[in-house]
Amino acid sequence: MSDTSPVSIAQITDIHLFADDNQELVGMPTKDSFCAVIEQLKKLGSELDLLLLTGDISGDASLESYENLQNLLHPLQIPTYSLPGNHDCAIAMEEALNLRLFSRRKSFERGGWNFILLNSSVPEQVYGYLSVETLDWLDSQLVIIDEKPTLIAVHHPPFLVNSRWLDSSSLQNAEDFFAIIDGYPQVKLVICGHIHQEFQYQRHNVHYLGTPSTCIQFQPNSTDFALDNQQPGFRHFKLYPNGHWESRIERVPYFYPLELLPGKGY
Ligand SMILES: [Fe+2]
Repeated sequence: MSDTSPVSIAQITDIHLFADDNQELVGMPTKDSFCAVIEQLKKLGSELDLLLLTGDISGDASLESYENLQNLLHPLQIPTYSLPGNHDCAIAMEEALNLRLFSRRKSFERGGWNFILLNSSVPEQVYGYLSVETLDWLDSQLVIIDEKPTLIAVHHPPFLVNSRWLDSSSLQNAEDFFAIIDGYPQVKLVICGHIHQEFQYQRHNVHYLGTPSTCIQFQPNSTDFALDNQQPGFRHFKLYPNGHWESRIERVPYFYPLELLPGKGY
């Protein structure tokens, strides 16, 4: 990598794998749709420097679901970093993702950028919250790291998406989060999962990005739970050492008839 070439990253989110490979989420076999995403990642091949998994990796928080993830991703041979969402068990996740390519680090530098991964999950709750310990740790990391451009990843969005049912489970203490990052102008990007849709929002000089799930998609601007017929996908970033960044959503050719069941808690 030269001093000016970008670091290339795939953000993969809300995979919802289960212990049973055949289990479905609202009618979608989540392993199959994830395999379609993996095929697309293979096409990017050596271009990708790392994978960022932004929560709800599991749909049932089982050890087996994380082992399934590891078995599916390992052939790609791409360094992988992860954080938990509301459907995950952070302890099982750390225990099961034990191969060398799966890093437990939550703060690292790559390609001239700093990366900080936060745990916003709250046991037994769908909504997100950053504990005092997590906020203190974030602040300490931002003090320690240098002024390289910084990306923060967190499962629950610290912004609203104009969907009442989803907005009720966003990050509950976004103001505490803003109070910290507002003091660090090197923070450029905050990337999230949870909302199963593409979303972009800017506050001050920070861009906040939401990314499609690798399985079911939620309909934008819907008051109540509703599925969208967009295909599964992920986000591909190019981050340049001078702080410039590019991102695009990649959708995969995976189609499945969805059962439009009422539901919540995704
Ligand atoms: Fe979630």
